[in-house]
Amino acid sequence: MSLTDTLNRPLRDLRISVTDRCNFRCVYCMPREIFGSEYPYLPHNEVLTFEEIARLARIFTQHGVKKIRLTGGEPLVRKDAHLLVKMLAEIPNLDLTLTTNGALLAKQAQALKDAGLKRVTVSLDSLDDEIFKALNDADFPVAKVIEGMDTAASVGLEPIKVNMVVKRGVNESSILPMARFFRERGYILRFIEYMDVGHTNGWRMDDVVPSAEVIRIINAEMPLEPADANYRGEVAERWRYTDGSGEIGVISSVTHAFCRDCNRARISAEGKLYTCLFAVNGHDLKSLMRNGATDEDISQAISRVWHKRADRYSELRSENTIDLPKVEMSHIGG
Ligand code: GTP
Ligand code: 5AD
Ligand code: SF4
Ligand code: SF4
Repeated sequence: MSLTDTLNRPLRDLRISVTDRCNFRCVYCMPREIFGSEYPYLPHNEVLTFEEIARLARIFTQHGVKKIRLTGGEPLVRKDAHLLVKMLAEIPNLDLTLTTNGALLAKQAQALKDAGLKRVTVSLDSLDDEIFKALNDADFPVAKVIEGMDTAASVGLEPIKVNMVVKRGVNESSILPMARFFRERGYILRFIEYMDVGHTNGWRMDDVVPSAEVIRIINAEMPLEPADANYRGEVAERWRYTDGSGEIGVISSVTHAFCRDCNRARISAEGKLYTCLFAVNGHDLKSLMRNGATDEDISQAISRVWHKRADRYSELRSENTIDLPKVEMSHIGG
């Protein structure tokens, strides 16, 4: 029987964070003042092993999960990430994908493809080195990220999607150049409203550029029309260029919450199950596994958690909720 939560939402999408570490220090995610060398990253023995991840993945697919996305931190800084992909690729009928900052993608794309990865989503917030470096705070150049995307495309990890977080006064000027560039390249660019995830990024409503504004800006130069969702519960709202030259997406978690259809579960690098990006507490699946639980025990634990699920943070978001304690984005991967 298919598993549903208190709002009748099924479980379809599993996002697995494979590390809480990252080689970037994006100001909206891992600000350097907090994520410095003193930051208490997880010790290696607290991070799920590939075997543990693959075991959980199998159990989740028995509950209806159809898509698995590897995230981080930055998933490609985890040693031999392709070996995990290989293990997960053995699960039949799975959309297996990964969200990366692209820094290590050119090097790893072929191995990931050979291991059975289907496609990738790459984050890039600007084509302007000065703006991009100010955002990634790791002196990382745009060209290397593009090289990563192009290599991924050339080995067939398609469609390539590009995620751009838009922050008011920081990279608004990059909206049009990004749209022009990726339309030309044939990659699907998605604009993400800056969110109040975690509690280290100092989010303010004024920092958000509403998706409607992004659409207006692009439409004025390159006319757009709305397109149907690919599947129920799709996070990005799709728009296509009226001249047939491709599509973009907007992810409007702030101005147009999409909790109603949210079918996503997240597993943190330390093996906790979170039922919302903005959750306070996770359910410890690692301890269950390390204390000898059977697959059936774990399966029942997952069912219990999902049955009770009532999360709809983005729909309830207000000035009063932004200061609530929350898990950090780099622990559960967005
Ligand atoms: P596909 O449609 O399969 O390509 O993937 P996706 O749109 O689910 O993927 P992706 O991981 O690229 O999501 C893009 C971004 O949307 C994430 O990085 C988050 O910033 C945001 N996002 C994804 N899921 C949620 C969610 O459940 N809630 C909120 N508030 N934001 C989300
Ligand atoms: N708001 C919106 N998106 C964010 N991401 C990270 N932090 C935030 C935030 N505060 C995005 C990254 C990446 C994905 C994993 O999540 O840019 O595309
Ligand atoms: Fe790293 Fe992605 Fe967070 Fe940037 S947004 S610090 S690349 S995990
Ligand atoms: Fe899902 Fe929580 Fe995001 Fe709403 S805020 S869409 S419930 S993850």
